[in-house]
Amino acid sequence: MIYWREDYNFGISEIDKQHQKLIDIINRLYNAFINRTQDAEMQKVLDELLVYSRVHFTTEEFYFKQFNYPETEEHIKEHKSFILKIQELRTQAGENAGKFIFSLISYLQEWITKHICEVDKKYVSCFKKNMVF
Ligand SMILES: [Fe+2]
Repeated sequence: MIYWREDYNFGISEIDKQHQKLIDIINRLYNAFINRTQDAEMQKVLDELLVYSRVHFTTEEFYFKQFNYPETEEHIKEHKSFILKIQELRTQAGENAGKFIFSLISYLQEWITKHICEVDKKYVSCFKKNMVF
């Protein structure tokens, strides 16, 4: 379970809301796993995560372009590898669902918190400088 922490807040409401929603979807996946929800339900939440990750990454990448963010390339690489990893873990679902969900949730929890705190945090000053609030 991931709990929202004050230092996840960037003070950029659109981004903060999207990060909260991503964490919420990951927590729903965790709850589905803990409650031994049917595989089909977990797949549904996972699909939602994939769709919403793309929405969120597109938002960030749109601003990178708009603001000529210098670390755009490295950042986009992280987004791409995240999507690939989820797709890869998702295809393993049929083989060993329990193990798959466990490694997936661990990966998601670690990735999202690290990505927000270390990688996303770097664009905050650039976004704030360029955005009209
Ligand atoms: Fe990001």
